[in-house]
Amino acid sequence: MKHIDIIDIFEKNELIGTEATVCGWVRTSRDSKNMAFIELNDGTSLKHLQIVIDKAVISEIADFMKLGTSLKVVGEVVKSAVAADSVEINAKEITVLGECPQEYPLQKKRHTLEYLRTIPHLRVRTNTFNAVLRVRSVVSACIHEYFQQRRYVYIHTPLITASDCEGAGEMFKVTTIGYSNNYKSEEEYNADDFFGKRAALSVSGQLEGEVAAMAMGKIYTFGPSFRAEKSNTPRHVAEFWHVEPEVAFAELPDIIEIAEELIKHIINTVLEKCPEELKFFDAHFEKGLIEKLESVASNDFAVMTYTEAIDALLKADVKFQYPVEWGCDLMTEHERYISEVVCKRPVFLTDYPKEIKSFYMKQNADGKTVAATDLLVPGVGEIIGCSEREADLDKLLSAMEARGMSLAEYEHYISLRKFGSVPHSGFGLGLERIIMYVTGVQNIRDVILYPRTVGSIY
Ligand code: 4AD
Repeated sequence: MKHIDIIDIFEKNELIGTEATVCGWVRTSRDSKNMAFIELNDGTSLKHLQIVIDKAVISEIADFMKLGTSLKVVGEVVKSAVAADSVEINAKEITVLGECPQEYPLQKKRHTLEYLRTIPHLRVRTNTFNAVLRVRSVVSACIHEYFQQRRYVYIHTPLITASDCEGAGEMFKVTTIGYSNNYKSEEEYNADDFFGKRAALSVSGQLEGEVAAMAMGKIYTFGPSFRAEKSNTPRHVAEFWHVEPEVAFAELPDIIEIAEELIKHIINTVLEKCPEELKFFDAHFEKGLIEKLESVASNDFAVMTYTEAIDALLKADVKFQYPVEWGCDLMTEHERYISEVVCKRPVFLTDYPKEIKSFYMKQNADGKTVAATDLLVPGVGEIIGCSEREADLDKLLSAMEARGMSLAEYEHYISLRKFGSVPHSGFGLGLERIIMYVTGVQNIRDVILYPRTVGSIY
């Protein structure tokens, strides 16, 4: 269908005075004595295009006015009568492409995000999702751009796996066998299944990413990861998009530099390419958002050890729900206190106790901690999990044995340490978490088209 995107009507001055065809959905409509007005949106712009109907030209307007109706409009592009810097269309001909009855749930009133979650197929037509999805698209593209410009190789790691990367995570089982109590043991059941052994959806592409980095030097993956933990929080989904660079010949300070540069690249790109969306989020979701992003992009992130963070938490004049002591896993309330109150900016927390981190992290000389870091940001908490990998075969084996892991299942991974092992590091950035940070949207369910969470799958 020949038509012009609404964003082009706004941006191309040369269209003023010409006849144009636009398509879209009615967002609002207003009828007065001689004139009627429709705000049309086609998804290309956060801003709606005003369609002006002179009833002397088009008299039967009732079908065009219902919210949600899809229209094709032919008319002249003119400067707006009220807003000097905008344009509108004086309609000559309007065609209904799809009717929309009164029961359309998105009527004029502002709906709560909770209600909108119950209509995921329609909430995409709200301003909030229009803005979220465009920011998400811009961020995704600029992540590829960042790595491609620096000659990283984009690797597609398997989504179905036989190993559990994090060593302790809950995974979604992949099986073709339905309910049956014919099997005497889990082993017998797995042996009869599609792969002849236990298989699951991958929680991370890291282990395969390391394989690729040991040949290609600098790689990244960008795809879905799956977590079956029953974490019913505003920051967890069971299916999220995961960005995982893996870099050979990089130690912890090198990968921290890369992570900070990537986050700043994302923020600068959103500031440059999504000004309208950011204004919207600043007005409706987080006052001062634009100022925050500008400041984060132009200042250094903080770096603090886990031990220093524990000291700060113990000294804090705050009653935390979960008690704090050296060796404990930090909860969101602790992470947020460190980034929001102590550092007041994004902070890399480094050198965690080895017992609370994964087997593959490089063991520090103190024998107690590992060369790992989480990037914590105000408002969200952890957005990046990062570490230098253990490159020493014996140390890796002892960490795996201490966790009771099956060495046979990780044969390939272990052998990377036999055949030309090198220092290397990588991290995982959750796409939804960085989208929350750059938009100020507080619930992860509202930054993804179809959130998958405990007990909920639309
Ligand atoms: O800290 P995580 O578990 O680290 C890993 O998976 C490493 N293998 C990454 C690596 O080194 N290549 O997860 C990394 C990030 C988290 O910081 C968070 O942003 C995101 O993935 N993430 C989730 N996002 C949404 N919902 C969940 N359930 C998430 N779990 C992790």
